[in-house]
Amino acid sequence: MEKRKIIVDCDPGIDDSIALAYAAAHPEAFELLAVTTVAGNQTIEKVTRNALDVTALFKLNVPVAAGMVEPIVRELQTASEFHGKNGLGDCTIPRADAEPEKEMAVFYIKKLLTELPEGEKVTLICTAPLTNIGLLLKIYPEVKAKIQEIVLMGGAIAGGNVTASAEFNIYVDPEAARIVFKSGLPIVMCGLDVTEKCALTSSQIQKLSQSQNKIARFCGEMTGYSLANGNKFRGKVSIHDAVPYMYLTHPEIFKVEKVALDVDCSDGVSAGRTIVDFRWWMYEESEENIAVVDVDVAKFQEYLIEAIYELGEKVK
Ligand code: RIB
Ligand code: CA
Repeated sequence: MEKRKIIVDCDPGIDDSIALAYAAAHPEAFELLAVTTVAGNQTIEKVTRNALDVTALFKLNVPVAAGMVEPIVRELQTASEFHGKNGLGDCTIPRADAEPEKEMAVFYIKKLLTELPEGEKVTLICTAPLTNIGLLLKIYPEVKAKIQEIVLMGGAIAGGNVTASAEFNIYVDPEAARIVFKSGLPIVMCGLDVTEKCALTSSQIQKLSQSQNKIARFCGEMTGYSLANGNKFRGKVSIHDAVPYMYLTHPEIFKVEKVALDVDCSDGVSAGRTIVDFRWWMYEESEENIAVVDVDVAKFQEYLIEAIYELGEKVK
C-alpha cells in the first residue's frame, strides 16, 4: 500500500492502545500526523493521559490533542467494566513527560488539514465515539476537501454490544455519527460483525503476558484484565480498533460491500443502531460507503501478534 498520512481519533482504551501499537509497527504504511482523544471508554482526562503515555511507550513521537468532554447531545457513558478505572485495564506504564497540545482536537485537526500541502489528503482513522469528527465537519465543512476517507470502528450490520442493537462508539454519540455518515465523505465502516471475530484467544493472551517482550507483556496484561472482567463469559478479547488499520495494510483479508449508512437517533430501544442499506444504488453517488462484512481471523491474529512483537523489539 502507498504510505498514508493519518490522524487517529480515539479513546484509549485497551484496544485503541493495541491498535496504536499496530500503527507504530508499520511506519512504512502510516505517517501519523496526530492523535486526538475523545471521551468514551473513559473520561477525557484519562483517555488523554493514556494517549500521551501509550504513544511515548511506543516511541511514536506524535502530538496529542484532547477533544470533547462529552457527546454533542447525550450524557457520556463510559466502559469501565471493559477498560478498567484507568482505561488501560488498570495496567500502569511510565508517565510520559508530555502534555496535550493547547488547541482542542477539532481545532488542531482543522489546523493540520488547512496546512497540508496542495493536493495532499489525510485519512482519518476513528476508533471512538465520533463527537470530535462530527463537530469538525459541521464547524469546518471546507476541510472535507482535505480528507481522503474516514475508516472507522463502529456500528454493526446486525446486533450490538452496549444494547442488543447498538455498538458502543455509535451509541454514545449517534448524532455525531449521523453527521459523519451523511457528510458525503467516503466512509469505511468496520462494524461488530467483523470486529467481534477479530479477537485474541485466552492462550494467545497468556503467551503475550508471559513474554519477555515489554510491548507483548503490556498488551497481554491489558487484554488479561478484559478477559477476567468484561469478557469473562467469552474466553476471548476482540481487538476491535485494530481492524481499521489492518483494513488499510491488508485489505486482502477482508470482504467488503458497498452500502449506504444512517443511524437511529431516537431514544427508543434501537437508539444508536446503524442502518446499513445494501441497496446502495438507491442513494446519491456521494452516499456510497463501504461496510466490512467478513475477515480471515487467523490472518488478523497473525499480523497483529507479529506487529506487537516487532514493536517490542524496536523500542526495547
Ligand atoms: O464497541 C467497541 C468500541 O468501543 C471500541 O472502539 C472500544 O475501544 C470501545 O471504544
Ligand atoms: Ca475505542
